[in-house]
Amino acid sequence: MPHQYFLKQVQSRVATLLEAHLPSGNLEPKRLHQAMRHSALNPGKRLRPALVFATGEMLGAAPSKLDIPALVVELIHAYSLIHDDLPCMDDDDLRRGLPTCHIAFDEATAVLAGDALQTLAFELLAGSKVLNIAADIRLQMLAELSQASGSLGMGGGQAIDLEMTDRATDLTTLESMHRMKTGALINVSVKLGYLASDVRDESVLQNLQTYSESLGLAFQIWDDVLDIEADTETLGKPQGSDQAKNKSTFPALLGLDGAKQRAKALVETALAALHELPYNSDNLAAFANYIIQRRY
Ligand code: IPE
Ligand code: IPE
Ligand code: MG
Ligand code: MG
Ligand code: MG
Repeated sequence: MPHQYFLKQVQSRVATLLEAHLPSGNLEPKRLHQAMRHSALNPGKRLRPALVFATGEMLGAAPSKLDIPALVVELIHAYSLIHDDLPCMDDDDLRRGLPTCHIAFDEATAVLAGDALQTLAFELLAGSKVLNIAADIRLQMLAELSQASGSLGMGGGQAIDLEMTDRATDLTTLESMHRMKTGALINVSVKLGYLASDVRDESVLQNLQTYSESLGLAFQIWDDVLDIEADTETLGKPQGSDQAKNKSTFPALLGLDGAKQRAKALVETALAALHELPYNSDNLAAFANYIIQRRY
């Protein structure tokens, strides 16, 4: 299936899932629910759900086992973006071409909307009847998602990102920060797709992990590249935000070309890992190539 077509399908599937599971804006507390909807329903690329679907489908998992995992990684991502944009963090006013949550609403509502999107993710993964899966697998998924989101995953990466702002850093620290703040959620997306399938094979898992770890790092490096090279309208978020805030980024350390070379090398590693898999990994391969071709 051509990659663009696959991504479009995922985007419309995620829109349906979000509509079905987000509380209505007419339900009290209305302002909070409206803020959650504002940020989650905005036209994001839905790349993390795409990884859940692409991995799960490749391994033969039924759609009824993939919908909720795909939805919950997007909910965690949406929450992380609301908090990432707050004045106490990156202080950005534009996201996905629309005002950020604290601009469209207010700071307190944005904090709470982030909190509530996060807990909604765990609520659905723990209890949704739509997720037709054995209880032990559900528990494993919950443990993986918690770890990936917490202080040793995305949340911790965001903390290190803030610590490293306005400071010189080295490549090892920078790489570890990227692997946590962005890599962890990308990794767990692939892991949930694997867990939703019936495949239990250490070498498959190992190759999928090499794929997703390389991809996650390449993804954040490219995000840093786009912050320099793209324009605000295409990006849907403010161009030059990293430089304005004096963030530690790969281009800041390696130069723009050095950062691009590193991202390309990581994508090669990801593709090589896919080659080892005894499955049709075309969607995952197209995804890896897309990461370093995307313009936003
Ligand atoms: C942006 O992620 C934040 C990072 C972790 C780099 P995406 O580029 O996937 O953002 P959306 O979901 O498409 O808006
Ligand atoms: C965000 O990294 C990582 C998250 C966990 C949200 P960035 O701060 O670079 O993301 P953008 O560029 O604002 O989307
Ligand atoms: Mg940030
Ligand atoms: Mg940011
Ligand atoms: Mg960025």
